[in-house]
Formats: sequence, structure tokens, C-alpha cells
Amino acid sequence: MSYPIYRPRRLRSNENIRRMVRETRLSPDDFIYPLFVTHGKGVKKEIGSMPGNYQQSVDNLVHDCDEIKGLGIPAVILFGIPEHKDEVGSEAYSDDGIVQRAIRAIKNKIPDLIVITDVCLCEYTSHGHCGLIKNGTVQNDATLELLAREALSHAKAGADMVAPSDMMDGRVGAIRKVLDTEGFHDVPIMAYAAKYASGFYGPFREAAESTPQFGDRRSYQMDPPNSREAIREVALDIEEGADIVMVKPALSYLDIIHQVKQTFNLPVAAYNVSGEFSMVKAGAKLGWIDGDRVMMEILTSIKRAGADMILTYHAKEAAVLLNK
Ligand code: PBG
Repeated sequence: MSYPIYRPRRLRSNENIRRMVRETRLSPDDFIYPLFVTHGKGVKKEIGSMPGNYQQSVDNLVHDCDEIKGLGIPAVILFGIPEHKDEVGSEAYSDDGIVQRAIRAIKNKIPDLIVITDVCLCEYTSHGHCGLIKNGTVQNDATLELLAREALSHAKAGADMVAPSDMMDGRVGAIRKVLDTEGFHDVPIMAYAAKYASGFYGPFREAAESTPQFGDRRSYQMDPPNSREAIREVALDIEEGADIVMVKPALSYLDIIHQVKQTFNLPVAAYNVSGEFSMVKAGAKLGWIDGDRVMMEILTSIKRAGADMILTYHAKEAAVLLNK
């Protein structure tokens, strides 16, 4: 069937027709909103490169969570900014750590908002790497025990789901084992399964104060040119017990999202990361793009590629538009 018998424009002629044939629909249900929690009271400090996103103390965070729930967003993911950093990232697995306190406060006030926690050491270590350092290199196996302790302390504080983002080999298995031994078999793991060493994390490192103090993360995060390796990484995490697998970043990795969705039958998450967000904000501020329109197009493309859920700093503003 071809022109002039078939005229594709027939089904584009007005918004109602377009609505009828639309293949991908965004909803607030798709979003997970990332939040940064810090010590103190009454703190709400905007992150310079991420307008509308804040480092907040627990009291303000709980208010924010009320609003997030009100917008129909089902889940948040927490990142902590500790009081002190040290070589071994102690606050990451302290039962009194900032994330642990935030979990208790949110679950106490808003029990039906899903609280996911990012499990990693980089925000808590003085050197800013995601694992223990020995002779200038990141130690894989010694790090696993600390990550498992961190995940366990999040679960004990009431986290609904844990999300390891460190990219050490074997961490999903190590976390699953500890959670199961301690009676948390019902806490799912969302694995940052294919996480690339990306320039798009720049603004996040300001937000979470987690810039590596020497070197970079290329010895543990994936090399951006690789896609077959992503399939191996995802397969490994599934074997080790991941319940949801994530691709990160999203926008430059839509092909990876698509392949992961086609290859495996687990829910797929995609992380629309800080740099992707900040570029939209910067472009809109300069008047070079229509920020809202570009935001919706980006989020739609991530879903169209195959993501079942999207971690995004746009969650609130996108939900406001979708709820109109
Ligand atoms: C922690 C972590 C990072 C992000 C999520 N978890 C930073 C990194 O790996 O350097 C990035 C999120 C973003 O850029 O929005 N390892």
C-alpha cells in the first residue's frame, strides 16, 4: 500500500485523531523522583546546575514527598549527603545515617509512597570513589560487604527497595544474600545494571558532593561505546537476583534500553540523569528551546525505547503537565 492509496497524513490531521493512534503515553505512574537529603533543620538549598532541585533536610524532604505523592508519582529515590566523609564511607551503613533517618521520617508520615534508596559509597567516602581504595585502586570484593551492610541498614530503616549504583562485580548477589538472611526477602533490588562512565553525571556530583578526588570511574563503570557488554552486565545482575534492571544514562543510550527490553523479560528502568536535565534547563533559559516541549519529547522517547519506569528530575513538572 503506497501513495496515493495510502496517505499517512490522514491520521495526523487533528489532535483527536492523533490521540487515537498514539502509541506511547506518559503518565505520572512512570516516574521515580530523585531527592537529596542533608543534615540540619529547615535546609532547602537549590542546586545551581539543577534548577528546581534541592539539598533538603529531613523536615523539608517530608513536605516535598507529600507534594510528590499528591502529583501521582509513586516513588522517590534517596541520595544522602553525610555530615562527615571518611576513607570507608561509614555514614553509608550507619543506622543513624542521613538516608536511614530520612527513610524513617517519610515512611512514618507517608507510608504508601515507595521509598527506594541508592546504595553506593561515593557520597560518603573522602576520596569520592564508589568502593574501598587500596594502593590507589578501587577494591571490588572488599567493597561488597560494605554495600551489603548499607542495603541492609536501609531495609531495616524501612526502605521499600534498594538500588545499588556502584558497579562492583557481584554486588547484587551479595546484597540479595544479606537481605534474605536477615528476613528481608520481600525487598526488591533495582540494579543499576548497565551504568556507563558518563560525562552526563556532572551536575549530580555537585548535588551529591561526590566528585572523585583522584582519577575517574572508568575502571568500574561501563565504557560508552559498548552495547554487547551491557547485555552481559544485565544478564549477570538478573542471575544474582535483580528484580528491576536499569540503564543509565537514558538519552544517549536509548539503543541499550531497547535491546535490554527485547532481550529480557524483567521490568526496565532508565535514569534520565542530571546532565540531560541541566541541558534542557540551560537551553530553555537561553531561549533556544521550548523547555516543556523538549522535556516531554525526551521522556516520551525513553518510554518508547522500552523503559517501564523513568528516574527523572523532571518528574514533578512533567506530572503537573500530565495532570492538566
Ligand atoms: C552514585 C550515583 C551517581 C548517579 C547516581 N548514583 C553518580 C556517579 O556515578 O558518578 C548519577 C545520577 C545523575 O547524574 O543524575 N554512584
